[in-house]
Amino acid sequence: MDWGMQNRMSQLIQPDGHCFFLPIDHGYFQGPTRRLEKPGETVKPLLPYCDALFVTRGVLRSCIDPANSKPIILRVSGGTSMVGQDLANEGITTSVQEAVRLNVAAVGLSIFVGSEYEHDSLLNLANLVNECEEYGIPVMAVTAVGTELKKRKARYLALSCRIAAELGARVVKTYWCEKFDSVVHGCPVPVVMAGGPKCETELEVLEFVNDGMQNGAAGVNLGRNVWQNDHPVAVARALRAIIHENATVKEAHDLFNSLKSGEQQKRR
Ligand code: 5RP
Repeated sequence: MDWGMQNRMSQLIQPDGHCFFLPIDHGYFQGPTRRLEKPGETVKPLLPYCDALFVTRGVLRSCIDPANSKPIILRVSGGTSMVGQDLANEGITTSVQEAVRLNVAAVGLSIFVGSEYEHDSLLNLANLVNECEEYGIPVMAVTAVGTELKKRKARYLALSCRIAAELGARVVKTYWCEKFDSVVHGCPVPVVMAGGPKCETELEVLEFVNDGMQNGAAGVNLGRNVWQNDHPVAVARALRAIIHENATVKEAHDLFNSLKSGEQQKRR
């Protein structure tokens, strides 16, 4: 692997082999998502606890301080919306020159395996890899399901992750699912987990993240379950404890509760 590629990969995957990416790209098809109306304010207290931000160029330029940032994974696919015809019909929205200009650590795009736009999204990935490899920029493939949440099963996700890796993705982002080991087992590059819509409780989040980590995930790319929580910093620190400090679910949950009650006392 060339020096540039290695250097960028090591900004993403930490020396323990794990990572905590914080995605704030949701607005590219959802508009002003709850608690991400002002992305700069949302991420400010969370930056010390994550390893990289997943973001579009528009929000990066307008909301993130270039002098005080984390490594950037630039979202470069889009062109669809929640109210449009089909979320799977994405194209590449951002050039590789722009990624270089923004000094990003990686770029990310979605693929939609099994959808009407499977072919287009997979060629988007392959073409992006062709260009990005020239510059030593890793591509993270997001195995997206659009509104078809029922697709979040091991067999489908394993298929999508493997295809993404075969086409050259250096990292694959997918959903946590039961039997997560079978997803990781067939994927030769690091697999990170997204959360999807916010879970009912923090314990549920810590449990699925821990299960994924125990079953071979490299880490998370977790958004709404962090910044839509009433105590986002406490969730981020509890997740960090599982991802980077080998904490048990109980230890992480205790940490969450003690940080939460500390915050509440400060407010009184
Ligand atoms: C949106 C994305 C998000 O980065 C991804 O879904 C992670 O966020 P969340 O944990 O909120 O699902 O790719 O398309």
